[in-house]
Amino acid sequence: MKPAVLVSRAVFPDVVERLRAHFTVEDNPDDRIYTKAELIRRLAGKAGVFATGSERFDAEVLDANPQLKAVCNMAVGYNNIDVDACTARGVLCTNTPDVLTDTTADFGFALMMAAARRIAESEHYLRRGDWKKWSYDMFTGSDVHGATLGILGMGRIGQGIARRGAHGFGMNVIYHNRSRLAPEVEAECRARYVSKESLLRDADHLVLVLPYSQSSHHAIGAAELAQMKPSATLTNVARGGIVDDAALAQALAARQIAAAGLDVYEGEPALNPALLELPNVVLTPHIASATVATRRAMAGLAADNLIAALGFGPLAGKPPTPINPQVLQA
Ligand code: DGY
Repeated sequence: MKPAVLVSRAVFPDVVERLRAHFTVEDNPDDRIYTKAELIRRLAGKAGVFATGSERFDAEVLDANPQLKAVCNMAVGYNNIDVDACTARGVLCTNTPDVLTDTTADFGFALMMAAARRIAESEHYLRRGDWKKWSYDMFTGSDVHGATLGILGMGRIGQGIARRGAHGFGMNVIYHNRSRLAPEVEAECRARYVSKESLLRDADHLVLVLPYSQSSHHAIGAAELAQMKPSATLTNVARGGIVDDAALAQALAARQIAAAGLDVYEGEPALNPALLELPNVVLTPHIASATVATRRAMAGLAADNLIAALGFGPLAGKPPTPINPQVLQA
């Protein structure tokens, strides 16, 4: 008998078909968001789950489903998974790194440029029919080329943004990260390591690309925003909760910083209503990895992981991108 798996959100139908070659699949073509109780119920009897960032896998969910062997996220971020709880119960977790790096870096750069050059704000003005004449100071923003690009979180996506800034736009790139990059990587990204204080103080455009954890919760709050230049922009393509959105809304309203670009929010898809009222913030609905090719690659990799984690396919027992590989050795 084939093992049973859950596909917790709607995904490309051909990916679901691939899973059906190995598993009895319960999918979710209507794309309902399950409550925790429903997730627990639907996981009953399942050996694995093809998950997305919108479902939370914690001790309660795992304890209700001791037969579960693998949680395979279609996302590079995995703050929706309690990895320690999974490891303690022998549940393998996987994510989808690398395949989205350049797409997400492109988007982070685009969002930063949109904030700096006031693209969304000026487009809304035009659509409202407010554009009557050219004027010398209409929607003047700040330059991107030659400016100082600050990156908080210098993993693969941060490095991709650094390369775009340094090589494409002649930017002076500074970064802060838990650990400093190897000298050859710094040289290749043309990025200089600085303290968080210097990063906040010196960046003309600050981009956040760090993973969410308890220690990065509100890494940017009122105190950090107060250290930034009044002409600076802030872009978040990482996770909601890294920025204190209420403090950011206040800083934008008071013009303590010039503008922001946000793709992720605390408590998304809800967002702080104050942000919606502000002209100087570009708001997008968590789409940094959303190109057809990249979403296909993410779904394909999540499926590869699930198939291999449950002992099928050419990579049986060797899922390509495990988060807690120690489970495989146990
Ligand atoms: C990721 O891959 O982590 C993206 O944010 C999509 O959830």
